[in-house]
Amino acid sequence: MDVLEAMARRSSTRAYTDQPLTEAELDTLFTAGLQAPTATNRQEIHITAVAGDNPILAEIEAHKNAMFGQNPPVNFYYGAPTVLILSGENAFSWTPIDAGIAVQNIALAAEGLGLGSVIIGCIKGPLTSDKAPYYAEKLGFPQGYGYQIAIAVGHKAAEKEPHALDRSKVNCI
Ligand SMILES: Cc1cc2nc3c(=O)[nH]c(=O)nc-3n(C[C@H](O)[C@H](O)[C@H](O)COP(=O)(O)O)c2cc1C
Repeated sequence: MDVLEAMARRSSTRAYTDQPLTEAELDTLFTAGLQAPTATNRQEIHITAVAGDNPILAEIEAHKNAMFGQNPPVNFYYGAPTVLILSGENAFSWTPIDAGIAVQNIALAAEGLGLGSVIIGCIKGPLTSDKAPYYAEKLGFPQGYGYQIAIAVGHKAAEKEPHALDRSKVNCI
């Protein structure tokens, strides 16, 4: 699949089968994340791959629910077999943008592999709370790194059309 087709076909997947990702699929996703450009080629984005049955995800889910209620009504990663959590250097001002670029690279790579994905922002509350150092240690973030964004990836159990485009968000001068 070429990159234009992957962009056109990608949409958020919110239901997954139990089928795990292969090592090769995971490696393709890691490579896509690491291939993303970073400001001044800092390469300050770290990827933590977490299996869907790792208890740390249930812990994060419970913390999120205590903060915001159970939204989404299923778990935040929709039962996906893998969640990739991207952390980045807190002290570097371009880190949030670099993480966004990396996570989209991963989403497009997932689409190219025929997998589904959904970017996950809803765990920002717990992961940037006063328990952030605890989660950073549990998730193996490098020193001085903090949560930026996450993405669930797996085999699609539901299809969703890509979102409608708002062409008013473009002008040419
Ligand atoms: C920064 C960011 C955070 C997001 N966080 C969540 C989330 O926590 N839960 C979720 O279900 N979807 C989340 N999404 C997915 C968006 O809801 C989704 O991309 C948007 O509705 C457009 O739909 P599409 O991805 O199918 O085109 C997030 C997307 C972005 C870019």
